[in-house]
Amino acid sequence: MSTLKAVRGTRDLLPPETALWNRVEATARAAFARYGFGEIRTPLFEDTQLFVRGVGEETDVVSKEMYTWEDRARAASEKAQSLTLRPENTAGVVRAYIEHKLGDTGMLQKLFYIGPQFRRERPQRGRYRQFWQIGAEVLGPQSSGAESALRDAEVLEMLATLLDELGIPRASEANGNTGWKLALNSVGSSTDRPRYIAALKAALAPIKGTLCDDCQRRADTNPLRVLDCKVPEDQATINDLPKIADFLDEASTAHFAEVKAALDACGVPYTIEPRLVRGLDYYTRTTFEFTAASGLGTQNALLGGGRYDGLSEMLGGPKAPGIGFAIGEDRLILTLQALAEAGSLPVEAAKLDTYIAPMGAGQNAAALALAKELRAAGLSVEVGDGGFRLKKSFEIADKLARRIVILGEDEVASGVMTVKTFASGEQVKCERAALEALLRG
Ligand code: HAM
Repeated sequence: MSTLKAVRGTRDLLPPETALWNRVEATARAAFARYGFGEIRTPLFEDTQLFVRGVGEETDVVSKEMYTWEDRARAASEKAQSLTLRPENTAGVVRAYIEHKLGDTGMLQKLFYIGPQFRRERPQRGRYRQFWQIGAEVLGPQSSGAESALRDAEVLEMLATLLDELGIPRASEANGNTGWKLALNSVGSSTDRPRYIAALKAALAPIKGTLCDDCQRRADTNPLRVLDCKVPEDQATINDLPKIADFLDEASTAHFAEVKAALDACGVPYTIEPRLVRGLDYYTRTTFEFTAASGLGTQNALLGGGRYDGLSEMLGGPKAPGIGFAIGEDRLILTLQALAEAGSLPVEAAKLDTYIAPMGAGQNAAALALAKELRAAGLSVEVGDGGFRLKKSFEIADKLARRIVILGEDEVASGVMTVKTFASGEQVKCERAALEALLRG
């Protein structure tokens, strides 16, 4: 019989790697708490229409990459429904904001999430069909200040601080520009964008024949996507196309200028990237992406986000401008692993405090009782088995723990145990009363 494997594009995360995932998530949660964010958990699947209307029917995510199925009615009263595994979390958060009338509080909502997303993309390093995002959204009624450029800058400053805390360096000549870089743009308001798209279409019409096949198609169906083209021969032509910056109205221009000034004041470095329009339809005004070269190959977008001032209305809700981002957690982990391999990040030794080795079956119960006491005192402990030979106990203990406690008949009777510290090779006799202090050292 053939063995079953994890489905293509999905994978198991195992220890010790999961310790790194947990450290990343704990660091992110701590940052979110400092910046006043609360956690939101939305369902893994939603009504397909949420993504069609929110993310946009013409986007790659919706038109090609969603896991969608017709969920059969279970009862005569129930209608069949088209459901989709969430390809991203912003639409779900805004749906929840509308459904629970969070805007009625009049307060700014600062929400974060950590969880899996699903896209049927071609799997490769840093690109999976089930992947994890750590994201956050800031939204609210206009009176809450949700539209303010200060919010954009706060979100970007938080991200820069988080990446610093995780130990990812900022790009510099010293690290060959392999650190993180922030690319920033403004895609304008919902009135600026149609004017720009019209200009782009007009500029593309006479020259599209010189571009790659994909671009020829995009020039008609979704001209903004031409700006994402990576084909080297097309780059010079695309760089000469009209720029969105020239189509921003006065309010959008002022908003963007305010974002940039606040970033400068906070010391967050950025590069203006006029071609950064992003792949989801809900974006307005500020858009951004953080890239990092270490460990990521072509999938170097570590995280992306932007403003979505019209999304709530697109979903039938009240006006609720907002801004948010999602970090690709899988990619963040790959980056951290590459930095650790290159020696630029300390690798944590994930060893237990101690291993207790009972010398015979008669000491198993005493070993377990001692482990219980030490664990209650906050120490990390593994217990062997009285059936193991001493040599085997030492071999296992050396792999797992910093110390071994040997528990034979005499030790149980006298309460004096033999403790060996592997790093120094030192072996001592230790009274039970002094054991915890020794194991902590
Ligand atoms: P996105 O750019 O589609 O934005 O995804 C954000 C990040 O998720 C990407 O930068 C990347 O790191 C990661 N990512 C996307 N697809 C994959 C994949 N197949 N495998 C691994 N990682 C992946 C959004 O999802 C928006 N909801 C972000 C946002 C929040 N905008 C406003 N608020």
